[in-house]
This record gives sequence, C-alpha cells and structure tokens, in this order.
Amino acid sequence: SVCRNEGNKMVRYAQTAAAPAPAPRIKKFQIYRWDPDTPGDKPRMQTYEVDLNVCGPMVLDALIKIKNEMDPTLTFRRSCREGICGSCAMNINGGNTLACLNKIDTNTSKPTKIYPLPHMYVVKDLVPDMSNFYAQYKSIEPYLKKKDESLEGKDQYYQSVEDRQKLDGLYECILCACCSTSCPSYWWNGDKYLGPAVLMQAYRWMIDSRDEFTEERLSKLQDPFSLYRCHTIMNCTKTCPKGLNPGKAIAEIKKMMATYKEKKTAAA
Ligand code: SF4
Ligand code: SF4
Ligand code: FES
Repeated sequence: SVCRNEGNKMVRYAQTAAAPAPAPRIKKFQIYRWDPDTPGDKPRMQTYEVDLNVCGPMVLDALIKIKNEMDPTLTFRRSCREGICGSCAMNINGGNTLACLNKIDTNTSKPTKIYPLPHMYVVKDLVPDMSNFYAQYKSIEPYLKKKDESLEGKDQYYQSVEDRQKLDGLYECILCACCSTSCPSYWWNGDKYLGPAVLMQAYRWMIDSRDEFTEERLSKLQDPFSLYRCHTIMNCTKTCPKGLNPGKAIAEIKKMMATYKEKKTAAA
C-alpha cells in the first residue's frame, strides 16, 4: 500500500498492479540547425523523435527533453517557461509564437517544424540576433519622462484608475518580437522601420498620463520609415502569443500624428 498526505491526515491507498506500458506515441520534430563555430556548416533541418507519453505538453518541453536526453548541442533561448520572459519566441509550424505556450500537435503523422524567428540574423540554431530589436526599443526611450525632474526620487507620480486602464493591453507586452518578425514591412526595412512591438511601446508611453513628452515622442516618428512603413497588414496582431493588438496601437499613433501635424501647421 502507499500513504499520501491529504490535508492534515495520512490516507492509506491500496496499490494497483502496474498498468501495461502504453504504446509509444512517437512524434517527429524537424528543427533548424546551424552552428557558426563549425567551419563550413550550412543550415539544415535535423529530425528528432520524441515519445509524447514521456514528454510535457508544450513544444518547449520537447525541446528541453531533446537537449537533455538526445543532443546537448541543440541551442535555444528559454527562461520562465510560462509566457513571461519572451525568450523562447520561435517559428513553429509556420507561425511565430512562444514555445512554452504552444501545445505540441499530438497528430503523430505530421512532424512539427521549428525555425528561428524569420528574417533575423541567426546566432546559432534557434537563437536569433536581437541586437537591432533592442536598439530600436532603446531608441523610443521606454520610460517615464517629466519636464521638471526636481521631484525625481522625492515623490510619487499619481495616476487615476481611468488613466491607468488606458495602458491595459499595452503594458503586458513581453517584447518577444513574434509580431515584428511576422511583419513584411519589418522584414524588408527592419533597419529603419521600428516594427509593431517597439511602436506599441512608443504608444504606451505617449498615452501614459504621467509622461510629459508625448509631442517629442511623436515628432521622432515623423520620417517616412519609423512609423509609416506600417501598411496595416495586421500579421502582427494575428501572431501575438499574448493576445495583444500592436496593429491597433500603430493605427492610434497615426491618428495622434495627424492631430499633432495639424497643430504644428496651425501654429506655423
Ligand atoms: S506585442 Fe505580442 S508579439 Fe509583439 S512583442 Fe509584445 S507580446 Fe510579443
Ligand atoms: S499592421 Fe503594420 S506592423 Fe502589423 S504586420 Fe502589418 S505592416 Fe506590420
Ligand atoms: S520561456 Fe519565457 S516566454 Fe517562453
């Protein structure tokens, strides 16, 4: 028999005979591999077979199992395994998503194909180079800015409940870059177009009632590329694994920009 602690009392259970081992459910994972440290290595797909009976339900579980038990050279980013850190973003079966939130397709007749985020430079295997993305994020100054900084560190900047609610659907972004790397405009002009993730954060600071640099923030996006390369294709919103709507945020910036430009012309 076995004992289990239930609440504060130990309960004794009869042990059943071991059930016959279920038939293995072998799922193939075809994964993009490329190692810059192996001279002459060319990108290729490598297939791994995982028994789903002894694997967690998410694609990240399969990747971790492959790395731990089959091939320690397989390289990918992950940290929180619960959709918070944004580091496990990759392209799974043709869509950008977070491996830790993406359930393994249990149809074993079809392989699951995994690539790094599209149109990014690859550091190794599933690891994309995020330097440009982070530099763009830095460029929008993603923090509260006040004209009078004398209160800094001395007081709190209060915000009404209503004003705080305006940030819902924006602050939850985990900067995974799934949206930006699904955007054709970002693929072709990623050096000059900021892309949906960064633009949504620019908008988040523009509409923060405590921030006093809205006009300056708008003025920085006036060139033909930073904002206006968005052609409202909406891939970004479709792919966001957190259910956010960066396409809408960009449309809102365009509206604010129109008002800002009118005001500027009137003042001239
Ligand atoms: S908007 Fe969504 S897809 Fe884009 S970076 Fe944020 S969480 Fe990721
Ligand atoms: S709506 Fe704009 S940002 Fe989103 S995918 Fe389309 S072009 Fe890219
Ligand atoms: S591991 Fe953190 S979002 Fe997937």
